[in-house]
Amino acid sequence: MSEPSVAVAREFDRMWDDLHPVGRSESTGGYRRFALTREDHTLREWFAGESARRGLDLTTDRMGNQWAWWGDPDDAPGQGVVIGSHLDSVPDGGAYDGPLGVVSAFAVIDALREQGLRPDRPLGVVNFTDEEGARFGVACAGSRVITGALGADRARNLVDTDGVSMAEALRVAGRDPHVIGRDEEALRRVGCFVELHVEQGRALADLDPATSAVAIGTNIWPHGRWRIDLPGMANHAGTTRLEDRHDATLLAAEMVLAVRAEAQRHSTVATVGKLRLDPGGVNAIASHATVWLDTRGPVEPDVRATVSALADEVAQRGGRISEESWTPTTHFDAGLVSRLSAVLGDHVPLLGTGAGHDAGILATAGLPTAMLFVRNPTGVSHSPEEFAEPGDCHRGVAALTRVVQDLVTGAELPLRGDTSSTGAEGSPPPAGPSQALSDPS
Ligand code: GLV
Ligand code: MN
Ligand code: MN
Repeated sequence: MSEPSVAVAREFDRMWDDLHPVGRSESTGGYRRFALTREDHTLREWFAGESARRGLDLTTDRMGNQWAWWGDPDDAPGQGVVIGSHLDSVPDGGAYDGPLGVVSAFAVIDALREQGLRPDRPLGVVNFTDEEGARFGVACAGSRVITGALGADRARNLVDTDGVSMAEALRVAGRDPHVIGRDEEALRRVGCFVELHVEQGRALADLDPATSAVAIGTNIWPHGRWRIDLPGMANHAGTTRLEDRHDATLLAAEMVLAVRAEAQRHSTVATVGKLRLDPGGVNAIASHATVWLDTRGPVEPDVRATVSALADEVAQRGGRISEESWTPTTHFDAGLVSRLSAVLGDHVPLLGTGAGHDAGILATAGLPTAMLFVRNPTGVSHSPEEFAEPGDCHRGVAALTRVVQDLVTGAELPLRGDTSSTGAEGSPPPAGPSQALSDPS
């Protein structure tokens, strides 16, 4: 994989250093960059600054996703080539998941300009808002709302753990919550989207180091999030006999074990990464437990079977389970994937992933979409330990530059699908290439 020029690599490093302190916890070294917070505001200002520095036209869509355009996308509907990713993080997330794609995208613009290239098609850099859903619970809220996969009313009514609704958080951030919704205008501009992302498993680390700094994404596992509410009765920790208790914590513990067992039984992965006990007193029996479930797997019916077995377990305990989000199996555009492979060389591995991305939401909504993954030597992600070697990040920029160069000047873009549907569950995915590697990250 080739390298960018010293000037482009230096500019990449400058942007990387600028982002380093934003939302970083001194105690853990992880990032807390949540939607509609002060940190989010700082990141959006940074994006606007990088856009202005390059003379790009910054637009914001109905959900607040930021788009920085080189060339006027309204002059060429359906022809915009879009790159970028997101800047938010999971709680105590790593530096790379999201920002690597945004910083690389700006560096690609620098590289193309250094080459004197004049694009035939508009080129856009996007910062999708709230990709991780860390605050309001629904992942990829930015791309889901503009494609209609998440309805505006439902989005406005999502609440964070402090009970603040998204509508209220939008108001506090100075935005009008009534504006959010499906955005035809933003979608019409997009001809294709290529999201560069840090790899979130270690499939590439095990391959030939000389040729495997970058992979081409082929598909995303079906995945979703559910909320489980379990009942209890508050009572005194010292005076209530064990046999008299209705302890929601015990039910939650049983559910956590059931989640692990059902995932094993159905060959899926399932995670309880967030749990809340109310009222949360050390000396009071819990009156309510909320358990959040994330389930994914290579085979959609297996994921569904896992959740349905768990739903039975919840019912047996007098609880309630509700789906917070669902993304079906996603295949990236076969034509676009082949084109990336032709540009980069067929030695570049093809990689499926268990991680969710805005690219998957746009693909499900009918837009030609593909991804590039940059090698992660440990495979660790959603953790302060997440890492990619600087040299591999630069190789990612070089690979994305070659891809974009081809897309903005080369043959016609792949045809867009029908983007008038919501992209919600049930839309049949387009046929995709077979996957060479699978990275259940
Ligand atoms: C997003 O990173 C996800 O896969 O949950
Ligand atoms: Mn992530
Ligand atoms: Mn991501």
